[in-house]
This record gives sequence, C-alpha cells and structure tokens, in this order.
Amino acid sequence: MTIPVVNIIEACRKASDKMANKDTPLILNEWYVAAFKDEVGRELLARKILNKRVVMYRTLDGAPIALEDRCAHRSFPLSKSHLDGDNIICGYHGFKYSCTGDLVEIPSQSKCPHGIGIKTYKLAETGPLVWIWLGDQSLADESKIPHLPWLENPNWACTSGYFFHPGNYVSMHENLMDLTHLTFLHAATIGTPDYASAPYKTELKDGHYKLIREVVPTTLSPVWGQTTGLAGKDTAARIATSEFLSPGLHQVSVKFYDSALDEETRENYKIHTAHILTPETNNTMHYFIVHGRDFALNDEHIERFMHEQLFAAFQEDVEGLGALEAILDDQDEHHFEISVASDSPAVATRIYLKKRAEQEKG
Ligand code: FES
Ligand SMILES: [Fe+2]
Repeated sequence: MTIPVVNIIEACRKASDKMANKDTPLILNEWYVAAFKDEVGRELLARKILNKRVVMYRTLDGAPIALEDRCAHRSFPLSKSHLDGDNIICGYHGFKYSCTGDLVEIPSQSKCPHGIGIKTYKLAETGPLVWIWLGDQSLADESKIPHLPWLENPNWACTSGYFFHPGNYVSMHENLMDLTHLTFLHAATIGTPDYASAPYKTELKDGHYKLIREVVPTTLSPVWGQTTGLAGKDTAARIATSEFLSPGLHQVSVKFYDSALDEETRENYKIHTAHILTPETNNTMHYFIVHGRDFALNDEHIERFMHEQLFAAFQEDVEGLGALEAILDDQDEHHFEISVASDSPAVATRIYLKKRAEQEKG
C-alpha cells in the first residue's frame, strides 16, 4: 500500500512533538557543571546557567560558593563587586552579604534587617569539575552526580577545554549520540569514509541511552593512528560508544586495536571524552570537554598533538551546530524533521528530556 506523502509528514510532525527541542523548558532539578575547579578561586566568577545569573568564588578555607548574581537592593551584579574575607560587598552601594547569602550589613544605616538576602546554590566538586544544582535546593543529592571514575584515575591522562557554544544543548546531545556525522562534518579531522555505514547496536534504558558503533577493519585518522602506532594499517579497529548519562553529560568512549592480531596479544588503546553540556539559555551553551586516554601517559608531544586535533574537530561541531541553530530560529509551522534508524537513541534522549521538562513544569 502506498502511504500518501502528507501522512508521512504528519507522522514526522507527531514524532517531533514528543521530542525536546530548543524551545523545551530547561531542566532545573539536575546537576550541571558550572566551571572547571581551577576557575573558581578568590576572583569573582560570573556565569549564566539555565537562564540564571550566578557568581562563584571560594571562601578563605577553599569552599566553593555560588550565589545569585544580583544584589537585593538595586540588582547590581555582585560579580562586579569585591570580596571581604568570606563576604561579598556590593560594588554599587556596599550592601554586604555572607557566603550563605544573608544580608549582614548596610553601610547607610546602623541596623540591618535579619532574614533577608540572596539565593545560594549547592555546589559539589568531583575531579576537575564543579557541579551546581539550580533547582529546588532540598532535592540536591550529591550521590546523583554522574560518576566518571577515569577523571581521577592516575592511569589516565586528561586534557580539557571549553567552548562557548551558540546553539542549544538538545541538538548537541543528538550530535554526540549519532557519530554518523564523523564521515561528513569531520571529514578533514577525525572522520573516515567508512564510519557512517559501519554496523551499530543500541541500548535504550529509561534515562540511559547508548549507540555502539564497530568500525572493523578500518584505517585511522592521524589523531588516533599517529598516537597509537596504528597509522597506515588497514586492519585497525575502532569501537565507539556514545552514551547519554544525564541532561548535562554525554560520554564518548573508544577502543582502538589491530584486528589482525590475536585478542590475547594485541594492545588496546582506550579514550574517554566527557562532553559536558551546560545550557546557558535555551539556545546557547557552555561546552566543557575533558578528554582522557590510557596510553602515552607522559608523552607531552602526543598530548599536544591529540589536543590540537581533537579540539579542531570539536570546533567543527560548534561551528556546524551554530549554523544549524540559525536555521532552527527561522523555522515556521511547516517545519518537520525526518528521523532514521540510527537516530533511535537520540530520539529516545530527546523524548526523555521533554518528559523531564514536563514533569518539572507539572
Ligand atoms: S545595588 Fe547593591 S547595594 Fe545597591
Ligand atoms: Fe562531532
């Protein structure tokens, strides 16, 4: 039976309606990375996260603090103020706040009313990351922070970087879930022609979605070939797992080896990349990246080469999805998306994000 085209379009529209997009409300009750640990110190750090302006610093004994970046008096940004010990003094008329957000001093009068101040947000530190909870503070449970043990494992070497990304975080989750795009968007950096058509399998559990792609045999792009010693071989293997771990975190893990050698004798080279997606607004994002490897741990040349090559590839994502965002901004009511089989974990991710957003709204 031939299905009229109009029905296909209608089906696509209905499917799209169930998925999160750039207009879906952001999910507040979740841990997101607010900063790298070494960004938070005795200098005031301003960052807008989930449409909320936050100022961060450390107390004299090193505890990280996050406060609403807005003075309760006339809304001056506290990030443009200064620290006095553990307190923060507004740079406009001098109201003083404690690190718990309480107003403790008003310079123009001797009495300071009790029980007023500004919001504070819970922070938690793991490895090189500072996480923030911007939703209902009574729900902030540190045991729910996604665990990435390799970040603190001395047998892994890590490098990191940051992009301000001019696009929404939902599109970036999709980008990371289906690495078909390596063959096209990253043709000049980390992609190979055989990647897009390589076999894959998916795992879809509620809130945890995976796509595992096995490219065997293959040749490796320079960033992997030159760093693993598998350059020039057409028997290399590249097993890549894309994994949605939370609204703010996606992990890509890859194993490389020479498929011509026995499983018992061949060497495995493993990498992990934490793609940390912290929405600034509905259509901008803080994109933190930590990349780890379990080989060439003390080789500075390899580290520098790998970092340059990878971050050139991540720049391609930022530029590509920035261009895509402009198209999304222009879309009208006739817009629809077509999904294909390899989109299934990305579609599941988007349905999950929409469900979470609607639950919070409810
Ligand atoms: S705006 Fe901060 S003290 Fe007036
Ligand atoms: Fe990419």
